[in-house]
Amino acid sequence: MEQTLAIIKPDAVKKRIIGKIIQRIEDEGFTIGGLKMLHLSKEEAREFYTVHKDKHFYESLTDFMSSGKIVVMVLEGEKAISQWREVMGSTDPAIAKPGTLRHQYGFSVERNAVHGSDSPSTAQWEINFFYKKQE
Ligand code: RTP
Ligand code: MG
Repeated sequence: MEQTLAIIKPDAVKKRIIGKIIQRIEDEGFTIGGLKMLHLSKEEAREFYTVHKDKHFYESLTDFMSSGKIVVMVLEGEKAISQWREVMGSTDPAIAKPGTLRHQYGFSVERNAVHGSDSPSTAQWEINFFYKKQE
């Protein structure tokens, strides 16, 4: 069993498609091991995306990710990390395959509806980022 961190980004929350995305997650067979809604501050978004701090899109990305509420989930399954990335599709909705969430719901390479961890170590770091405190 593997865990990955999934985020429904502010663009998708504003579009009122939280339900559609969660339905797809359950239809794909993932177990939802944790779920919460929150609003990242600019500083928290910078910390979460620190891996991208030298990229040209860092400021814009962290503005976007702190622009509204997000839904953060821990998804569990045998190959949860790669499976969730397949369901999301390519970063850029314009090249994401039909049937993927980013093809369906993404607006641009930045406003692409969902996030997923990209490796086991990143997944653990990201899950810890949002779930370090007992609630
Ligand atoms: P994510 O981390 O959100 O699951 O997406 P990803 O692995 O497919 O993409 P990554 O390269 O990690 O980029 C993180 C997020 O930054 C925004 N981005 N903007 N303007 C740009 O060229 C650009 N490139 C990436 C996207 O929101 C992307 O998901
Ligand atoms: Mg990434």
